[in-house]
Amino acid sequence: MFRFAVYPSLLLILTATNTDAKEMTEIEALGAKPTRCTYAYAFEMYGAHCAGLRLNKIPSLRSGIEILDFSDNKLQEIHADTLSSYSSIKFLYLTENQIYSIHTDAFAYLTNLQTLDLSKNVILQITDSIFQLPSLRKLYLSGNPLLHLSLNEMIIHKPIKAPLELLDLSDCKIKELPDFGILPQMSFYNVSYNPLVKLDTHTFSSMCKLTKVDLSESIQNIKLCDLKMSIMWFQDRKIYFQIKLDEYSQLNSREFENCPKSVFPDSLNASYNHCQNEYTEVQNVTTSRSTWMTIAGGLFGFLVGFVLLLYIMHRHNVAQTKKTNKDINKEKPSDVDKNATAILLNNES
Ligand SMILES: *[C@@H]1O[C@H](CO)[C@@H](O)[C@H](O)[C@H]1NC(C)=O
Ligand SMILES: *[C@@H]1O[C@H](CO)[C@@H](O)[C@H](O)[C@H]1NC(C)=O
Repeated sequence: MFRFAVYPSLLLILTATNTDAKEMTEIEALGAKPTRCTYAYAFEMYGAHCAGLRLNKIPSLRSGIEILDFSDNKLQEIHADTLSSYSSIKFLYLTENQIYSIHTDAFAYLTNLQTLDLSKNVILQITDSIFQLPSLRKLYLSGNPLLHLSLNEMIIHKPIKAPLELLDLSDCKIKELPDFGILPQMSFYNVSYNPLVKLDTHTFSSMCKLTKVDLSESIQNIKLCDLKMSIMWFQDRKIYFQIKLDEYSQLNSREFENCPKSVFPDSLNASYNHCQNEYTEVQNVTTSRSTWMTIAGGLFGFLVGFVLLLYIMHRHNVAQTKKTNKDINKEKPSDVDKNATAILLNNES
């Protein structure tokens, strides 16, 4: 009987403390709601993690962040000043938001930006300024079902400044691929899940470092023989192109084989060679820049060493002078040590 009496009271105490703790955390959570992003080091970079917090605006973040993961939130608009104070960002993930509007200068301050993920939004219009970001290597725009409405009206200033290596335009309802001009660094182009109506080989000849194209579920609306030139180009340049299994069987058909044979027009070679030249130029700039950096670094190291040497020599000289002074003092016949110290101190001042 006694036992039974103890247990309920214990339980009561336990539940009481439990609800207390719960209330505390809830209050804390409420108070911290606008800035619940967490900070961490990843890949030797400082990053803010704000994914899946149902935020409809980017809260004030610590400065100096290099990674911002703001995916799976409710952001709708990116204004000119939304990101302007985070110029150190290199990797920006904005996938799975509700972004429909992006200001022309939204990313203008992000001169270090290397990866921009804007996939799975409802972007109505992107601006040329994204393609002019000086460090942008990877751009993900997949799963933006309204983007195609404005894509071909976008005025692109060529050659674009962004050193794009990866461009993902998959699943955007695109009928005609936009013309970005020469893209000398481009290696992977994902245009899968788009209802393409044509496949212009020039799109690919101006990407001379292209190694992979994903065309899955994108070529059904194109006449088989109209694919011939691009497929030949991929084979000739050893570009791996990905398509669905049934699409492969179509390309292996007698019908495809019997398409009129055609030779690559000169213009394809011309844009390919143009791209190659651009690539070599970029490589030269990077190597010469790194050479200069090495020279400058070496010079700096030498100067530091030289100054250090001078300082050591100076210290040595000072010590020598002091020593000779001391010796002179020692030679003086003095009976009290205190006097000698006094002389030394006088000498020093
Ligand atoms: C290309 O994009 C589609 C759709 O976004 C994706 O499923 C596919 O994995 C991508 N292709 C490659 C090779 O990554
Ligand atoms: C195009 O370039 C390839 C190799 O770069 C060369 O073999 C071919 O003769 C060129 N064709 C024309 C028409 O210049």
